[in-house]
Amino acid sequence: MWKGVIREYPEFYQFKNPDHVVTLLEGNTPLIPAPRLAAKINPKLTMYVKYEGLNPTSSFKDRGMTLAVSRAVEAGSRAVICASTGNTSAAAAAYAARAGIKAFVVIPEGKIALGKLAQAMIHGSVVIQIKGNFDEALKLVRKISESHPITLVNSLNPHRIDGQRSAAFEICDVLGGAPEYHALPVGNAGNITAYWAGYKTYKDAGKINALPKMIGFQAEGAAPIVRGHVIENPETVATAIRIGNPASWKPAEAARDESGGLIDMVSDDEILAAYQMLASTEGIFCEPASAASIAGVIKKNKQGYFEKGGRVVCTLTGHGLKDPDTAIKVSTGPMATCEPVTCEPELEKVLNVLGI
Ligand code: F0G
Repeated sequence: MWKGVIREYPEFYQFKNPDHVVTLLEGNTPLIPAPRLAAKINPKLTMYVKYEGLNPTSSFKDRGMTLAVSRAVEAGSRAVICASTGNTSAAAAAYAARAGIKAFVVIPEGKIALGKLAQAMIHGSVVIQIKGNFDEALKLVRKISESHPITLVNSLNPHRIDGQRSAAFEICDVLGGAPEYHALPVGNAGNITAYWAGYKTYKDAGKINALPKMIGFQAEGAAPIVRGHVIENPETVATAIRIGNPASWKPAEAARDESGGLIDMVSDDEILAAYQMLASTEGIFCEPASAASIAGVIKKNKQGYFEKGGRVVCTLTGHGLKDPDTAIKVSTGPMATCEPVTCEPELEKVLNVLGI
């Protein structure tokens, strides 16, 4: 049985007392080949998606949270706090519940996908909405954690990055090496930092010979790294990455530069088109922010970036069910309507509507 990332990778994650490990058996998410998507984008590419939506709280955050909460418990902490665009708070709430400690979460009012809010609430965390954005929420929780005995579990906490490295380990274990390219969305910039650290860890351990190019994508309305300055009022349909001043800005730039990769941006229209394309051509449902990775590959391919082909892994950071509102809003489908058609329960009428 899969034992969760801490126990599966003991050479990289050591605990003196095994009872301190707080796990929901996260990790071991499928690396799914995406041949139909590749055929549409560029047949020279071998595409895979790392479907992180299949973690216990349905996002990649569980990998970092098992480490962050376990280390908090190891240190004797009785409470954790985070700012979040939704997924970090869902994971913090769940792992705190599992550990029997308290969680406080601070979120931007009205900018959290419904499923994520439901998670923070059902797991019993204290949820505070601020009339402000993620960046302001992060400033507040940093201050609170500095002056109170509450552990900060945003990715400023190095254990978060430490745990998130495990996704890179898994990809290399499955492929027998690193892919040529690794694409992922960039918000607070912790995950691109973590993947790069993970690939480098594996190379240093002699488990792989080559490293991938890290290619990260921000949303056009929330692209501080691409534009080279803080964005005061970030806006994007991809609320998970609606961030104007990422905490891991510098390490993300280092990952980009050391790997010979890039960080670019994609528009909301490009994100939503990729979101629908993935769902309809491969049967894989991710949340809008996750689709920034696919949108980015499509954009760079049009510019000739993948002329030589190669293996591309796209991280799908969160499950599509996190954000049902956006899915329904954009799903016109074959019937060209965002609502199911209502009809009397009569065979002729149903056949007529179905167009059969
Ligand atoms: N995709 C999803 C679904 C996310 O929730 C996030 C970040 C990212 C991508 C970007 O990852 O921040 O490491 O660059 N969500 C954070 C949160 C900010 O609060 O849940 P990143």
